[in-house]
Amino acid sequence: MSPSAAAERAAPLTDLLSIEDLDADQVNAILDTTELLLPIAQRERNSVPTLRGKVVCNLFLEDSTRTRISFDLAAKRMSAEVINFSAKGSSVSKGESFKDTALTLDAMGVDCVVVRSGSSGAPLQLSSYLDVPILNAGDGWHQHPTQALLDVFTMRRHLGDLAGRHVVLVGDILHSRVARSEVQALRLLGARVTMVAPPTLLPPAVEGWGVEVARELDAVLPEADVVYLLRVQRERMLGAFFPSSREYARVWGMDARRLSLCKPDVLIMHPGPMNRGVEITGDVADSEQAVITEQVTNGIAVRMACLYLLLAGGTAAGTDTEVGA
Ligand code: NCD
Repeated sequence: MSPSAAAERAAPLTDLLSIEDLDADQVNAILDTTELLLPIAQRERNSVPTLRGKVVCNLFLEDSTRTRISFDLAAKRMSAEVINFSAKGSSVSKGESFKDTALTLDAMGVDCVVVRSGSSGAPLQLSSYLDVPILNAGDGWHQHPTQALLDVFTMRRHLGDLAGRHVVLVGDILHSRVARSEVQALRLLGARVTMVAPPTLLPPAVEGWGVEVARELDAVLPEADVVYLLRVQRERMLGAFFPSSREYARVWGMDARRLSLCKPDVLIMHPGPMNRGVEITGDVADSEQAVITEQVTNGIAVRMACLYLLLAGGTAAGTDTEVGA
């Protein structure tokens, strides 16, 4: 298989901190590389030796299950060594001690750091301490670039070119790093985005996001190609942003009645972990239109592609030969 035109044109990646740092060619190069690596993520083909001898450090300073496991699997399927560094209960998330952690990793000779932190900007800070590629696995309210990439990859597999496609983003946009990354990736690919959220959970400067905002979910559902439900981020809420979970589900939740208002082939997506009965009812989460488990599998392939592009120093051009080796 020959490399895609986007992969040949794209500037090489040095870090993956934010979707904002990427252009459309780089996003398409990641998506095209992901396509080549998907059979390995789906276990149709065995692991490949591409990253043998490389050491990937997963530095998780905030709770995570699926993202950490996904990065772990992605690195291992490409034969990298993985060290897991979780700093639960320690004080490494700020200032000098964070710098010391970085210097320790540097002294250990890691080749790449995958970092998750509750503090927005921590991956950028880390990249100023270390010369190795830094991959942002979610920082505060700010960015979660691999989530956005796996989401647009999943959409592209079902819908083809996303230009002109309509994505309805529902829920807690204010606290959501997924929403920030997602909107930037979708806009780069030419998709139209409409947000529907409790007014208290819309970001203050939403006009600058380049999206439409709708008041009523029912009114926009018939035109949606994708309905993307965001988790209610209770851990980031200091007060009451809506009256109750029941009220939230009634006004902003996706249920069978709302699914019936959508096109029959609409895609229902959620980044996980889901609050069943709040953002989404169990029957919609388990419906044929839901691609939530597919997002998880695609997440491994996207993370393989990002690690490959950052560590094997390549464009997607080299992937096929090495994967086939
Ligand atoms: C997302 C996150 O952590 O931002 N989840 C994840 O990566 N598994 C979305 C969320 O927690 O709502």
